Amino acid sequence: MPYHGFYYEHIAREIEESDTILDVACGIAKLASFVKLSNYVGVDFTPEFLTVARKEHPGIVVWEGNALSLAFIDNNFDVTVARAILEHLAPKSVPVAISELIRVAKKRVIISFFKRPRFGSARIKITKNKGGWFSNRLRGESVMELIKSNPKVKDCTIKNHHLQSSVWIIDLVED
Ligand SMILES: C[S@@+](CC[C@H](N)C(=O)[O-])C[C@H]1O[C@@H](n2cnc3c(N)ncnc32)[C@H](O)[C@@H]1O
Repeated sequence: MPYHGFYYEHIAREIEESDTILDVACGIAKLASFVKLSNYVGVDFTPEFLTVARKEHPGIVVWEGNALSLAFIDNNFDVTVARAILEHLAPKSVPVAISELIRVAKKRVIISFFKRPRFGSARIKITKNKGGWFSNRLRGESVMELIKSNPKVKDCTIKNHHLQSSVWIIDLVED
């Protein structure tokens, strides 16, 4: 299993084989190894990562794009996924990214991010660096509030698989 493969495995388990997928902020498209490649599209704003993705997954469809303004019409994909991006955004951008993920998805949104630790931060450093925010500062409660306030959301369940990391499954209302 590739490094940290369990994250992608846990996400892929929540996707049906026939589902079309948009992987938002896909990086080098690690999730692509765990889903049907022909159903997969990735977007990221770092072209160097997309070059690696294309090399590692011949035939993959990945485009340059911004998670805060996705170039797709509403309901364009069955499932949208965002792993390890919300905690890198400026606080004011988090609601925008969540709303975009929900807008372009038809059935389900899957997110996974590192949360602010519940019991102190002694072992987990909270830093802000040049490459953006690296946090552990996102509060699960506020993310849940944002999700539940979107009228397209039917239900949101959290599956905890690993210390600090969980998979949030957001099911959407049918048309
Ligand atoms: C920690 S990596 C996660 C990559 C991938 N999702 C994964 O789980 O392997 C964070 C990624 O978010 C991308 N990113 C950050 N902000 C973005 C934005 N506003 N739009 C698109 N990509 C963004 C970065 O280029 C980087 O590839």
